[in-house]
Amino acid sequence: MEGSRTTIEERDMTPPAMEPERQQYFMERARLQVKELSDRLGRPLTCCINTFGCQMNARDSEKLLGILETIGYRAVESEEADFVLYNTCTVRENANLRVYGRLGQLGAYKKKHPQMMIALCGCMMQEKEVVDKIKKSYRYVDLIFGTHNIFKLAELVSLCLDSRKKEDESRKAAEGTPVKGHKHKMVIDVWEDTDQIVEDLPVERKYPFKSGVNIMFGCNNFCSYCIVPYVRGRERSRKPEEIIKEIRRLASDGVVEVMLLGQNVNSYGKNLETPMTFAGLLREVEKVDGIRRIRFMTSHPKDLSDELIEVMAGSGKICRHLHLPLQSGSSRILKEMNRHYTKEQFLDLAARIKAAVPGISLTTDIIVGFPGETEEDFLETLDVVRRVGFDSAFTFIYSKRTGTPAAAMEDQVPEDVVKERFDRLLKEVQDISAEVCCRDEHTVQEVLVEEVNDHSPELMTGRLSNNTVVHFPGDVSLIGKLVPVYLEESRGFYYMGKQVDGAL
Ligand code: SAH
Ligand code: SF4
Ligand code: F3S
Repeated sequence: MEGSRTTIEERDMTPPAMEPERQQYFMERARLQVKELSDRLGRPLTCCINTFGCQMNARDSEKLLGILETIGYRAVESEEADFVLYNTCTVRENANLRVYGRLGQLGAYKKKHPQMMIALCGCMMQEKEVVDKIKKSYRYVDLIFGTHNIFKLAELVSLCLDSRKKEDESRKAAEGTPVKGHKHKMVIDVWEDTDQIVEDLPVERKYPFKSGVNIMFGCNNFCSYCIVPYVRGRERSRKPEEIIKEIRRLASDGVVEVMLLGQNVNSYGKNLETPMTFAGLLREVEKVDGIRRIRFMTSHPKDLSDELIEVMAGSGKICRHLHLPLQSGSSRILKEMNRHYTKEQFLDLAARIKAAVPGISLTTDIIVGFPGETEEDFLETLDVVRRVGFDSAFTFIYSKRTGTPAAAMEDQVPEDVVKERFDRLLKEVQDISAEVCCRDEHTVQEVLVEEVNDHSPELMTGRLSNNTVVHFPGDVSLIGKLVPVYLEESRGFYYMGKQVDGAL
């Protein structure tokens, strides 16, 4: 080789075996590969990540984008990009159907733009049948990986680019002759489970002023309807010092609100060398200068401690909002769901939280049509909704997930019955929500300003500590700031307000 330029081949010594050094090596290698390709094309390479599912996936996507940008891809909104990644969800059947539908459209685009790379990751890819189906029916996909090895993205992209280069070369060599036996190689790397937590990955945050922070991964609860424990693996907590280090870094970077993430944050810390409770972790997070608001999700009612209620009640930073999934109001169904609480225990918990943290908003998740659910069971759910007075509720029609205990249960509820119950529940939830949501009307509250209103550019949109949305006249300079707003009018799920002078 001429000159002093390092080429990809020269760098190809054996990659380090240990993380994070191995990924640092591959980030550099992939960066050179991306640069080589982009020099050849005379333009930057673009990438687009489409995220399905929950906050876990949203946070994973920020890490994935961080890696893609580090290796030289430029993020674009459009899926007409050089590298398109779908971070998938499989919690309900329709989540999967949506991915297949869009994948078909991507395939049609790729036919006309064969240089494009299509990658799939996330919870759906942890299911063997899904990967088999993609291998068979969506052969144009370039890369599949799962939930346990997102930190390996640079290595996997590097592998794909190598194989792409070989394909291009063999295509060139075969020029003039029909390309025979030329096979597109799909890179697949899905791990069943892991106890590995790789720290210090590059991250590209969606918002400069707020961020999710994983405090734990996986789930051990095995609610009988839920596929998450099968696709996210066993519960493992990050060390508190790593979490605090990340939050300090975020704060010094301008973040004022953190959302601590886990499938069941209330069981945080159980598997640590020095066990720590979630309430204990919250006390540490509160001490980080610059962080003004702390949120967390999700809280499993069975593990919500008195210590947590106490910490929430005494805190000036923990937001007055708790997402507390009910799933069903019938103790019999809750038992079948393996939730480990009864209707009465849930009601008691909700009452204690409300008494300890005045003005707190409670939100929830509810499933309708779990196998064996009778009209009486359903009425119990409506009863809890009314008695607790949730600010809002995500309502779901039960979806049968292969491999979960509930999928094998007899007595699946007929579709029309479920649909009718679902509509009744939705109406109840909306009525209650409109009643309780206006509780702060005509008061001044602090709003974290998040963005320009989608429909009216003269309005800014932000959130109260209790997570309710507020729109008020303002300008972009307010984004990321906490400002006092007079809540002039409640419109059911949101307020119209007016900024007032001074701090609260
Ligand atoms: N770890 C969180 C929830 C993760 S899944 C928790 O325990 O609350 C988000 C929500 O999806 C669940 O709360 C549940 O209401 C819903 N859900 C999960 N599996 C489902 C299924 N098979 N059918 C319908 N809804 C489901
Ligand atoms: Fe699923 Fe239950 Fe775990 Fe939540 S706690 S992710 S509903 S198994
Ligand atoms: Fe979906 Fe996976 Fe979250 S299945 S809800 S993206 S943990």
